[in-house]
Amino acid sequence: MGKPKLVISSGAGISAESGISTFRDAGGLWENYPVMDVASADGFRRNPELVHKFYNARRRDLVTKEPNEAHRLLAELEKDYDVYIITQNVDDLHERAGSSNVLHLHGELMKIRSVSDPDYIETLDPDHLDTTPATRGKRGDLMRPHIVFFQEAVPNIEPAINLVEQADVFVVIGTSLAVYPAAGLIHYVRHGVPIYYIDPNPATAAIGMEGVTIIRDKATAGMEKLVKILTHAS
Ligand code: OAD
Repeated sequence: MGKPKLVISSGAGISAESGISTFRDAGGLWENYPVMDVASADGFRRNPELVHKFYNARRRDLVTKEPNEAHRLLAELEKDYDVYIITQNVDDLHERAGSSNVLHLHGELMKIRSVSDPDYIETLDPDHLDTTPATRGKRGDLMRPHIVFFQEAVPNIEPAINLVEQADVFVVIGTSLAVYPAAGLIHYVRHGVPIYYIDPNPATAAIGMEGVTIIRDKATAGMEKLVKILTHAS
């Protein structure tokens, strides 16, 4: 028999203990930057310079941060489970912690893509993290941050739904469940599959939902508890 399939849906909270700001907590990014200016399709059309600057700052911050124990424990669970991570995060901390299967719903900070061909993507060189509206890729295309802006479709939602439908265990970590379609993934879990939700301040919509066990902790402490539950049960 193969290993059971553990599907994770992570949000900004899993990277909070690495020192990366969340969006909607007090002091979060959207308190300091108007979201529709820096992270929407309209904002990008209005002022692309500002949007590039915002993501340049996010990248410069990210390269100074490290994965935390929650990211590492998820990578270690691959010993016992087929682990698939669906993340709303644009950081690369799951990958740097060693997770093999990471599906990014909202894009990736360390990548840029062609403005005219969404399938043409390049990874930034760590020595050249800054981009501007005039940045061209190796093929000559004008490039933009590889971020899914508000008002844009989420191309990876279909593969994400497929993964959730196959889950034997589903875990939500550190997300306010405020942004769709990501927040709706939980509804594709098969009946009877256990769901765990690790968050010090979980979204009220998920509290009391059938099959959901809330672990009201920060990601690292919550993951330690989850590993005990999952490795004991498997
Ligand atoms: P939010 O900022 O909306 O929510 C962060 C969640 O993390 C909240 O539920 C917090 O309670 C929780 N949290 C805070 N500290 C934590 C910790 N140490 N451990 C665990 N959880 C903690 O972030 P997301 O739900 O990820 O999209 O936001 C979703 C999307 O909205 C983002 O991907 C981003 C944003 O706009 C784009 O920019 C496209």
